[in-house]
Amino acid sequence: MDIFTEPVDETVAETSAEQPVDAVVLLPVAELHLHIEGTLEPELIFALAERNGIELPYADLGELRSRYEFTDLQSFLDLYYANMAVLQTEADFADMTRAYLTRAAQGGVRHAEIMIDPQAHLSRGVSLETCINGVGSVLANSLEEFGISTLLIAAFLRDLPEDDALEVLESLLAMEAPLVGIGLDSAEVGNPPAKFERLYARAREAGLRLTAHAGEEGPSSYVTDALDILGVERIDHGIRCMDDPDLVERLVDQRIPLTVCPLSNVRLRAVDTLADHPLPAMLAAGLNVSINSDDPAYFGGYVDENFSQLAAVLKISAFDRARLAANSIHSSFASEERKTELLDELNAV
Ligand code: ADE
Ligand code: ZN
Repeated sequence: MDIFTEPVDETVAETSAEQPVDAVVLLPVAELHLHIEGTLEPELIFALAERNGIELPYADLGELRSRYEFTDLQSFLDLYYANMAVLQTEADFADMTRAYLTRAAQGGVRHAEIMIDPQAHLSRGVSLETCINGVGSVLANSLEEFGISTLLIAAFLRDLPEDDALEVLESLLAMEAPLVGIGLDSAEVGNPPAKFERLYARAREAGLRLTAHAGEEGPSSYVTDALDILGVERIDHGIRCMDDPDLVERLVDQRIPLTVCPLSNVRLRAVDTLADHPLPAMLAAGLNVSINSDDPAYFGGYVDENFSQLAAVLKISAFDRARLAANSIHSSFASEERKTELLDELNAV
């Protein structure tokens, strides 16, 4: 029987707990939770600053890297938004996207659903055309150039007013931006899903797919509300669902995908250490989890490094790693034809 062509089920999750740990094989995966601005590596930040005549508040790479000690989500967001200052032209956005796809391909990524934060660029005076066309120009040929099929998700900043998000969404629709869906990110606590009910209703009406960050730092009730009030199909992070057994049961029954980002959770102190990460418990519960890098330039690893550290520290078995890879493919917004191709590739490994 070919186990990876079927979505996750509890029987498999139970059996898998006994698999031995072994060498980490690079698996073909879909990356479903990736902020393109979070792929700006320190070297590229300096190169783009020089190209655009921007003076950075760091003397050198070492000083910039010394700032990558985060105490919580907000301490990361402050640096993440500040570093976006170097993104000025379509070429800057294109170069950043090319660098991510080059690195992701080396790590086994074969399909990527990439978030962009348009409001973070508009507020700096960089137009939607510049950021969307810059990223989009590279995504348009990503399969041919990098062997990675790609889709673009516009993420909205939940610490800004809903009216701002609605206005930007209308502009994106008017310019026929090549979007598969929308997401919701930035400072979670105090900005609950209910704040964006109208935004999600409008996106749904426009035929967009729906996802939202929930239960990263915020409570499990934000996961419930993202499902009930926003009608999302997928939850980004969602680890705090483990605080609510009824919610876990619902997520399992409805096979709701959770795009988990283990190294991000450690670096942003959502968990104390990788050894404390709830991933094994999530797998054992039968949740539909996938592994993602979130903001790999800031959190110490791309998808392959997340997988290898999960194997080394949490002893996630080869069987479970393959299950996680299969989940990522099943949970993607790719066409059924593309999913079949990816699953065939995974089964071949
Ligand atoms: N924006 C970029 N990375 C994020 C994260 N991990 N959580 C919320 N917003 C983000
Ligand atoms: Zn994220």
